[in-house]
Amino acid sequence: METTIQFIGSYVEQEVTLGCWITNKRSSGKIAFLQLRDGTGFIQGVLVKSDAGEEMFNRAVNLPQESSLYVKGTVKEDKRAPSGFELQITDLTVIHEAGDYPITPKEHGTEFLMDHRHLWIRSNKQHAVLRIRNEIIQATYAFFEKEGFVKIDPPILTGSSAEGTTDLFHTKYFDEDAYLSQSGQLYMEAAAMAFNKVFSFGPTFRAEKSKTRRHLIEFWMIEPEMAFTDHEENLTVQENYLTWVVQSVLQKCKLELAALNRDVPILENIKTPFPRITYNQAITFLQQEGYEIEWGEDFGAPHETAIAKQYDKPVFITHFPVAIKAFYMKPDPENPNLALCADLIAPEGYGEIIGGSQRIDDLELLQQRYEEHQLSKEAYSWYLELRKYGSVPHSGFGLGLERTVAWIAGIEHVRETIPFPRLLNRLYP
Ligand code: 4AD
Ligand code: MG
Repeated sequence: METTIQFIGSYVEQEVTLGCWITNKRSSGKIAFLQLRDGTGFIQGVLVKSDAGEEMFNRAVNLPQESSLYVKGTVKEDKRAPSGFELQITDLTVIHEAGDYPITPKEHGTEFLMDHRHLWIRSNKQHAVLRIRNEIIQATYAFFEKEGFVKIDPPILTGSSAEGTTDLFHTKYFDEDAYLSQSGQLYMEAAAMAFNKVFSFGPTFRAEKSKTRRHLIEFWMIEPEMAFTDHEENLTVQENYLTWVVQSVLQKCKLELAALNRDVPILENIKTPFPRITYNQAITFLQQEGYEIEWGEDFGAPHETAIAKQYDKPVFITHFPVAIKAFYMKPDPENPNLALCADLIAPEGYGEIIGGSQRIDDLELLQQRYEEHQLSKEAYSWYLELRKYGSVPHSGFGLGLERTVAWIAGIEHVRETIPFPRLLNRLYP
């Protein structure tokens, strides 16, 4: 029976065939232990010389790392193995004998590994991180499906910006200028007026000259947008969504979390409701802690980390000054200097993973913001029209996938949370 490692538990005491690669091996001269991976998992294969015969045994123990092969064997339960199973090999066929593989089991520097990212993603830890990323994506689709959202795909090539003009990627669009999308939000607002509850999932681009462990040039965002939804309801959706995602990873990625030595009880604690503090409270707290920050300034990474340390769950910071947030955010009716918005800060120093807000639904106020922010009336006229024809209170948010993966997987730097990161100094591989 041909199968893959992820399904091997259904074939205990049966003979199966795996297409796989060899990652490591050791031999006593009579028994060889082959570490095998097939992309769906990792398993140890045991080859006994007296059963296999001299020729097959010698071929196996001399196979270079990452050679590809078909292995036939009997599946055995093995409590000590991470996967719970072992393969007693009865036959093997080499498909391709690999050349000298650059990534050996010894330690390598990050730049070297990043240069070999096309190979590095085969290794146990990187594989685990990207499987967790996949589970977060699957859980996202499942959550929004069950909540009645429609998936809508905003364009990548755009004529206008959503999040300010400083970090736009410019490109020619025949005779016009175009930009790579920083956020699909404006289009998702149009979609929410057509489909009520919508979400998008796609790549976004920021030409940010930041070289931090939280910044990528190309990153993936999940952007829900909801009609007839206010600021408070927006926060409830966010905490329900994130709780669902974390619990899904806990259920489906046990082996991956173990491979990464992730502290599971910390994640098990992630349940609604999440704590909330206002921007004003956060400023007071930071000043009391001795940080030099004035009201009206935005938070930097050290500030976010100091605030997050006070909690064992993600924390919402709400009601930022209008002046430091995007043009589309609805002002708080009780204090129009503050916006009905929130950033969600992950625990353990992983920083802001969600930015969201209620949107301005009043045509006149939005027009006034256009003037203040000197936005092009031409480029944004379609967006204004959403407030002309049946405007309703609506809200939405954007969750940065890579920062969320970094936090859930417990990975220091976002560059390891996307298959092929685009960084300030890296466009290859
Ligand atoms: O806070 P941001 O800029 O919000 C928006 O773009 C809104 N238009 C979203 C919306 O309301 N629909 O970005 C949202 C999230 C951040 O919280 C962060 O997780 C992530 O996107 N993010 C980045 N992730 C990696 N690298 C970068 N350079 C990022 N910039 C933002
Ligand atoms: Mg933000």
